[in-house]
Amino acid sequence: MTGAPIGVFDSGIGGLSVLSEIRRLLPRHDLVYIADQGFGMYGERSLAEVRRRSETIAGWLIDQGAATVVVACNSASAAALERLRGHWPVVPFIGMEPAVKPAIEISENGTIGVLATEATFQGELFASVLDRFAAGHEVIAQTCPGLAEAIENDDPALDELIARYVGGVVDRGADVVVLGCTHYSLAGDRIAAAAAPARVIDPAPAVARQVARVGDGGGAGALTFVTTGDPMRFADQLDRLGFPSTGVGSVAV
Ligand code: DGL
Repeated sequence: MTGAPIGVFDSGIGGLSVLSEIRRLLPRHDLVYIADQGFGMYGERSLAEVRRRSETIAGWLIDQGAATVVVACNSASAAALERLRGHWPVVPFIGMEPAVKPAIEISENGTIGVLATEATFQGELFASVLDRFAAGHEVIAQTCPGLAEAIENDDPALDELIARYVGGVVDRGADVVVLGCTHYSLAGDRIAAAAAPARVIDPAPAVARQVARVGDGGGAGALTFVTTGDPMRFADQLDRLGFPSTGVGSVAV
């Protein structure tokens, strides 16, 4: 156990869904959250671009002294998690993978839906999750163009997009819907209302438990928020989501 912070990153606000679960479990750890909003959304970019960007952002967190890095983004985890672990072998990296296993465990009809970005479905991680856990089950992979952006921007079109993408899996018989992008967890209640009676799985609590199990870090409970984009805008978003919004930093990386 060190006094160093746990670093958490995402393309934007999505990873805050994971951060709040980590905070609940580890209230006295220092946490540094960086939103890569200056670069923009990851989900519809190439895996190579997201990989390079993830290396830059993880490197920044490690330069700040982070003892553990949480890749609170499914797209970045799909593109870069293995590479990051190879690059910094002594740093524990905890990433996201679509929660296919728990979804199959609770599915009654053997058909589940996964909502995620294009990048997440393209990565080898998703193929390996299917290989490991999905044999004999039907997994409907629903890409959701624009959904993470709509959540990021609090766009009024959000409910329409949710209806379209949730419909894309429940109309085909899914009785469990997996939130495969950390942004979607922030709209989890609205997605659950659209999916009912199908159940929705949000992996954020399980990822936070994994951070508590294998992560290194400590401190006095400080929470630091940084963006590569506009700090005023990020402060407004934090405020809207109920996080402390004073002293948001900006970095150019
Ligand atoms: N929050 C992200 C994820 O979990 C990325 C959304 C995006 O940047 O497009 O995939």
